[in-house]
Amino acid sequence: MAKNCLLVTALLLFLSLYLSLVHGHRKNQIEALKKLLRNSKSSHIDRTNFKPYLYIKDVKSISSVDEKQKDVIEYLPGQPPVEFVQYGGYVTVDQSAGRAFYYYFVEAEKDKESLPLLLWLNGGPGCSSLGYGAMQEVGPFRVYSDGKTLYKNVFAWNHAANVLFLESPAGVGFSYSNTSSDHLKYGDKSTAKDNYAFLLNWLERFPEYKNRDFYISGESYAGHYVPELAHTILYHNKNTNNTHINLKGIIIGNAVLNEETDSKGAYDYLESHALISDKTLTQVHKYCDFSPTATLSPDCDTAMGVCNDELSDIDPYNIYAPVCTDDRLTARPKKISYEIDPCNDDYTYAYLNRPEVQEALHANVTKLGYDWEPCSGTVQNLWSDRPFTVIDLLEEFMANSLRVWIYSGDVDSVVPVTSTKYSLNAMNLQVKTFWRPWLVHQQVGGYTEVYQGNLTFATVRGAGHEVPSYQPRRALALISHFLNGTPLPYKPPPEQTYH
Ligand SMILES: *[C@@H]1O[C@H](CO)[C@@H](O)[C@H](O)[C@H]1NC(C)=O
Ligand SMILES: *[C@@H]1O[C@H](CO)[C@@H](O)[C@H](O)[C@H]1NC(C)=O
Ligand SMILES: *[C@@H]1O[C@H](CO)[C@@H](O)[C@H](O)[C@H]1NC(C)=O
Ligand SMILES: *[C@@H]1O[C@H](CO)[C@@H](O)[C@H](O)[C@H]1NC(C)=O
Repeated sequence: MAKNCLLVTALLLFLSLYLSLVHGHRKNQIEALKKLLRNSKSSHIDRTNFKPYLYIKDVKSISSVDEKQKDVIEYLPGQPPVEFVQYGGYVTVDQSAGRAFYYYFVEAEKDKESLPLLLWLNGGPGCSSLGYGAMQEVGPFRVYSDGKTLYKNVFAWNHAANVLFLESPAGVGFSYSNTSSDHLKYGDKSTAKDNYAFLLNWLERFPEYKNRDFYISGESYAGHYVPELAHTILYHNKNTNNTHINLKGIIIGNAVLNEETDSKGAYDYLESHALISDKTLTQVHKYCDFSPTATLSPDCDTAMGVCNDELSDIDPYNIYAPVCTDDRLTARPKKISYEIDPCNDDYTYAYLNRPEVQEALHANVTKLGYDWEPCSGTVQNLWSDRPFTVIDLLEEFMANSLRVWIYSGDVDSVVPVTSTKYSLNAMNLQVKTFWRPWLVHQQVGGYTEVYQGNLTFATVRGAGHEVPSYQPRRALALISHFLNGTPLPYKPPPEQTYH
């Protein structure tokens, strides 16, 4: 069976599938995906609703301010001059196991003392926030086609916040564990627990951020990570003497929220965007049951196979973008155009695997026995628990007065805007501000609807799965309004007179 519909269906978002095409392990990854699809319908995965995470005792400080100075990144190979400070290094999340997470932190160019702290997480599970978030989405630099020099992302999010990127869980990117059996614990619960332990220890190293307004952002499978970490923080803020984390809100894009509506929305999107036939969608509706207790029927499997053949080799993460056809690095950097280069993954891969780059980043200090990969196949294949939905967590945040924003790049077919709208519908929210366009740079940036309880939904027009890659200006406008707590800008239409 071909790849795309499986990918849409499995709903753990295997960015790595796409990447592995680029890096040439295509066959293995398709096998891995088939396995996951089967697993996702099998009973050994914990599908129960979310329960508070394991109690984490008061964390002994195993991180210190001295370490912060050692983490300053003087200069990344090939970078243009900049006015802000960058840090990179390891924070231990479990001392006895020898488990440490790699982080990259960019302070704001201006007003770093007053701007909030923003954590960014990519999904997968198994994908790197350094390779995607930092180097291709919201970070200050992007990699040129030579794989060794960097240019400035003029719409970087450190115009609006101090931005922290975390490679998580262990096994992703430069993050590692010295205990090999840790691989058997990959899942949502252990990830939330480790992410929380990371934050507590990171704040010991950067105590000036301890009381700062804190927000968590992310995309795709981070639609699980972000709410689960936020839930863990709320729980510990209330029940333990751990450092109080000043969590104010979360923002997630093209996010996995609720398996049933996510799956249904994905097929409906494909048909409504003329990528599969009406007949095939009818078959999917007839034979596929995406509810929590259902098993995958052979007729559904067949319908998905047809869907896949019809879809063919497009980039499911941006249905209108070209695919990468020549992944070779160039001797001289290619000129940067407004359109995103579909081979960016390869440039980033080359850059982050350069020994001098790793040294400058203070990464891979234990000389890991494998390359830096944008997504880890091992992590995603061994994923052992995930709840069916995170809607209950979003409701918890609204009840606790956190700011909750959910955005959606509208040309993504993997977690498309239809899926997100179905999930929001399932929440039965009361509309506060009815659907309307929002504006940036005199253009419609997308559409927004605001609900009672401080939940904002916003689409980003013309953006694929990685919204800030495809529409950086719109994404920066979005995050700025989110962080400021201001509504997305709107110019009401001139009064109509009807004759
Ligand atoms: C993992 O093992 C290496 C080699 O013994 C050691 O240098 C490193 O500090 C260990 N990592 C952690 C987090 O304990
Ligand atoms: C928090 O600290 C106080 C004072 O040291 C102590 O009495 C209390 O039991 C602690 N609470 C928890 C949950 O550890
Ligand atoms: C770490 O360094 C070793 C030795 O230079 C290299 O072979 C390996 O690919 C690197 N791994 C990662 C994850 O960067
Ligand atoms: C919504 O946000 C406003 C302004 O930030 C705040 O005053 C209000 O309490 C919030 N409402 C709820 C229901 O959380």
